[in-house]
Amino acid sequence: MNKEIVVSGIRPTGNLHLGNYMGAVKNFIKMQHEYNCYFFIADFHSLTTHPNPKDLHQNVKQVLAEYIACGIDPEACTIYIQSDLPEIAELYLLLNMHAYKGELERVTSFKEKAKSHPNNINAGLLTYPVLMAADILIHKALKVPVGKDQEQHLEMARTFGNRFNRIYNNELFPEPQAFNYGNQLVKVPGLQGGGKMSKSDGDNTVINLNDDDATVRKKIMKAVSDVSPTEPNSTPSQAVQNLFDLMTLVSNQEVISYYKTTFADCSIRYGDLKKQLAEDMALFISPIKQKIDEISGNDEMLGKIAKMGAEKARDSASKTIATAREMIGFTKFY
Ligand code: TYM
Repeated sequence: MNKEIVVSGIRPTGNLHLGNYMGAVKNFIKMQHEYNCYFFIADFHSLTTHPNPKDLHQNVKQVLAEYIACGIDPEACTIYIQSDLPEIAELYLLLNMHAYKGELERVTSFKEKAKSHPNNINAGLLTYPVLMAADILIHKALKVPVGKDQEQHLEMARTFGNRFNRIYNNELFPEPQAFNYGNQLVKVPGLQGGGKMSKSDGDNTVINLNDDDATVRKKIMKAVSDVSPTEPNSTPSQAVQNLFDLMTLVSNQEVISYYKTTFADCSIRYGDLKKQLAEDMALFISPIKQKIDEISGNDEMLGKIAKMGAEKARDSASKTIATAREMIGFTKFY
């Protein structure tokens, strides 16, 4: 029986962080053995912020090294660089003809980015969800392992795929669904006391998979907490809830219960909680960081992986684009 198709990608904006790991990569590692998986580095997507070419080149290689270090196996799945597939750019163009300004302007990520970067509201930013739909639909994926922040983009991918099917009276694209092995998509909080972990809030608010023990400890010890509770069984503030949420990801159940109990009876000391969290986080990150150190810089191996992945991915992408071209009427008469 044919395995279900899975697609997901991460933008090469620097090092991968704990949010990328828990929202996406952790699922990739398991899914690669159960599904037909395509995992890529979304370098087209990173162009919306106009990266310097040297940094972009370096960051693509770094994410590839970090994928491998995390346990994504180029033999078990297809790993590729998005810009190695011109078929994606072509499908993006085709889908763009049926994507409307009004619906694109209503996308939350567009509104947020337009607000935070009013001088760079480019067409690529507006049509970002169309490019993402092209990434997913090009392999006819059914499952897309992503964090909670990508939910709306998945809805758009379904909309664009269905619209294309309807207009051209064909069932080319199936409906992709966001996926996580837990029963919910995850949102890993940052260390700044509110909001998700994100590079755009500054390096001190994220735990990178490439951080050494000392850096992990320093960042966690500086994480925003709160004044101690004065009423028994009170509701934790957002900042404290974030620390508990991070603990849930890396600490054992006994430790979590202990700190929850001390919060409930008001005896909690946030300094101790952060020390414990810092140790558990360092223990979690350290083996991944060691692997990253071993792999990054091995351009020969990374090059082979990228080449093999590009060939496998193009094989799948070229079939989809050939059908899409035919549906549109780009049929050869010569
Ligand atoms: P990006 O590069 O911002 O993030 C990559 C993946 O990491 C997840 N993620 C998080 N999950 C939980 N908590 C967090 N704090 C957190 N931060 C990031 C994201 O949900 C994502 O799964 N547009 C995408 C990249 C992309 C893509 C695609 C993904 C391009 N084409 C096609 C899936 C399918 C993005 O910018 O993710």
